[in-house]
Amino acid sequence: MLREGVQPSHGAFVGILLACAHAGLVDKGLEYYESMEKVYGLKPEMKHYGCVADLLSRSGNLQRAFEFIKEMPVTPDVVVWRILLSASQVHGNISLAEIATKKLLELDSSNSGKYVLSSNTYAGSNRREDAIKMRELMEQSNVQKPSDGIAKWALV
Ligand SMILES: *[C@@H]1O[C@H](CO)[C@@H](O)[C@H](O)[C@H]1NC(C)=O
Repeated sequence: MLREGVQPSHGAFVGILLACAHAGLVDKGLEYYESMEKVYGLKPEMKHYGCVADLLSRSGNLQRAFEFIKEMPVTPDVVVWRILLSASQVHGNISLAEIATKKLLELDSSNSGKYVLSSNTYAGSNRREDAIKMRELMEQSNVQKPSDGIAKWALV
């Protein structure tokens, strides 16, 4: 993906890391991430940390993603935690979703509504029944589902 003799930019690495994350090329992505500073002398920025968190967590390596975030040389921002939260939800890891939610609340308390653990988190886990119950309750009370709710409810 990188041509010899061409100095890639910070932006190029975002593209490469995202492509690796989407293709599930975890080791390849990590290799590129490592090469950023070692080979190209580019200091990773927050967006690159976010990409690596995505790369690891999307592929189900939640523990590695969490370790990576904890070891970041800068304080992780809300984007990084949101990536971990969303992957934890997809993979049904409630304890990690709760940790990420707590961090998000600390960093961005004005948006607390966004980070309330929803039925989404519980779907796919042992608490699947809670999610079904919640959905039934919403249907019974004719509550409008959020517009981005299709994916959420599809998980149940
Ligand atoms: C959730 O992830 C954490 C960190 O990777 C791990 O310690 C824990 O065992 C996981 N829990 C479940 C239910 O998978």
